[in-house]
Amino acid sequence: MKEDAILVINEVSKYFEGLKALSKVTIEIPEKCIVGLIGPNGSGKTTLFNVITGFYPPDEGKILYKTLSGIFVDITGLNPHEVFKMGVIRTFQIPRLFPSLTVLENLLITPLNQRGESVVNSLRRSKWLREEEELVHRAVNLLKTFNRLNIASKYPSELSIGDIKLIETLRGLMTPARLYLLDEPLAGLDLHTARSLLRLIWKLNKNHGLTFLIVEHRVDLLMEIADFIYVLHNGSLLASGTPGEIINDPKVVRAYIGE
Ligand SMILES: Nc1ncnc2c1ncn2[C@@H]1O[C@H](COP(=O)(O)OP(=O)(O)O)[C@@H](O)[C@H]1O
Ligand SMILES: [Mg+2]
Repeated sequence: MKEDAILVINEVSKYFEGLKALSKVTIEIPEKCIVGLIGPNGSGKTTLFNVITGFYPPDEGKILYKTLSGIFVDITGLNPHEVFKMGVIRTFQIPRLFPSLTVLENLLITPLNQRGESVVNSLRRSKWLREEEELVHRAVNLLKTFNRLNIASKYPSELSIGDIKLIETLRGLMTPARLYLLDEPLAGLDLHTARSLLRLIWKLNKNHGLTFLIVEHRVDLLMEIADFIYVLHNGSLLASGTPGEIINDPKVVRAYIGE
């Protein structure tokens, strides 16, 4: 196991009633890197996210996560909330915005922000208000970055598919974490917005040392920022390497052509 990994997926398998969605997949995510996870439809990418983040337990294999203190802990089979508390955030391929909340409210209701009304929090109300203010500031700045301040008070039902997807991803990025798993963040985005989002991810990685595992269908765009790529095919790891290696790998080209 490489010491610079933040996440190690070791021989993980997942079955759905006889269908092998993942078959002994071994992947290491180096810390402070942008790693791409690609593969044709149905190759198991989202299932891998679900298994990492505790939405499904794997049928075999282990998932290890390096905590801030540098020690690897076994997170196999933890529930989503426990994985989240360790500093792992995921976004969903099919966005999960709250339909009755505006865009701005959706950005503010990140999981960390759902404190409830505990006594301690009301005693620290001034601190709490300051944090709220900072969050609003952050959300507004994010919307400005994407020229989307005009949708701040709109509801999800009033947004284009691309904007719904963008807000889903920005909601994930609003929450402080160490490892972000983004499921097809560029889906439905126009080229300009897609490039802005890639630039933001790149900056968060370079300036704050955040780690990203990104599932993406628009492989050419992903390759502009990815340090390393893993390719899944029919639930198995087909190839791994730098973007340059992957793009020239005949196995990968064949897998996509056969789609
Ligand atoms: N909850 C589920 N129940 C049954 N089959 C599933 C479930 N989730 C995924 N699958 C199947 O597992 C395979 C991999 O799916 P998925 O991980 O969504 O692929 P990808 O994200 O690479 O397109 C597909 O054949 C899909 O139909
Ligand atoms: Mg998927």
